[in-house]
Amino acid sequence: MPLIAFVSPKGGVGKTTLTAHVAALLAQRGYRVLALDLDPQNALRLQFGMPIQDEAGFLCGITRRLPWRPAVADTAAGVRLLPHGTVDPLTVLENAQALHQDPELLAGPVREMLADPELLVIVDSPPGPTPAMSAILPLVDLMVVVLLADAASAAQIPAIVSNRWLGRGRLASRAGERAVVVLNQMDLDAPLAIAVLDGASEALGPRLIGAVCRDEAVAEALADKRLLLDPEDGPAAEDLNAVAEAVAVRLRLPPPGGTRGRRRGGFSALTEWGFR
Ligand SMILES: Nc1ncnc2c1ncn2[C@@H]1O[C@H](COP(=O)(O)OP(=O)(O)OP(=O)(O)O)[C@@H](O)[C@H]1O
Ligand SMILES: [Mg+2]
Repeated sequence: MPLIAFVSPKGGVGKTTLTAHVAALLAQRGYRVLALDLDPQNALRLQFGMPIQDEAGFLCGITRRLPWRPAVADTAAGVRLLPHGTVDPLTVLENAQALHQDPELLAGPVREMLADPELLVIVDSPPGPTPAMSAILPLVDLMVVVLLADAASAAQIPAIVSNRWLGRGRLASRAGERAVVVLNQMDLDAPLAIAVLDGASEALGPRLIGAVCRDEAVAEALADKRLLLDPEDGPAAEDLNAVAEAVAVRLRLPPPGGTRGRRRGGFSALTEWGFR
């Protein structure tokens, strides 16, 4: 089954939020989902309500070549999770160097995950290019680039359009072709946000697969250790459902066995841009 990576040249844009919600929404639809955290911040586990004291993970011990299966944790959302695990700053550097020298440390286990024909692997990543992301780049089927609707994010769009945002090599440009974009934290009352959305829509065409409203409910849900899965949980929840749907459509995922979590109708302030 496919490998989906949530990535961004920028930090704090919503990669972890979108990874967790899309993973949980696809699990709710009946897919078997494994969420893999490549970010040393080890924050994806918090989205799934795991206790902060739980420091175990997979990437944190990557140089020890430990098997990945024992590190998988079940979550209440039905997603199986491979947390990054807690690391000190020196280990972050050592792991990055090890992955730079030997990408197979990570590519090998990820290939094993993808060998399961029913498993959908969804990756959360730190901002910018990293050795961990480079290691799995050839395996990624869909790269969801998360951006904000601001000037700094808008400045990244030409590089995404030209498939050069990951670099100029053939591998990077091939991976760049598999990139789609979601604008997050859209303030629908802000003229700048609307201008960026319009510009992104024109430049990216169908590669702009969604936009998610800025909604306090997102941060509140994280504080309450829950995910916003019901479209009626508010505008961001509705948008997140639409993003999960767009990911499934883009990947032409075969229909899952279950019918739970099918999208119900609802309001959307973003309908006029054709994201719903
Ligand atoms: N649509 C939204 N509306 C309101 N707040 C949001 C929305 N999306 C994300 N946030 C909040 O923005 C903050 C950053 O989100 P998140 O941690 O998902 O970003 P990130 O790209 O993973 O960050 P990092 O680069 O540090 O990994 C969090 O506090 C999150 O709750
Ligand atoms: Mg993050």
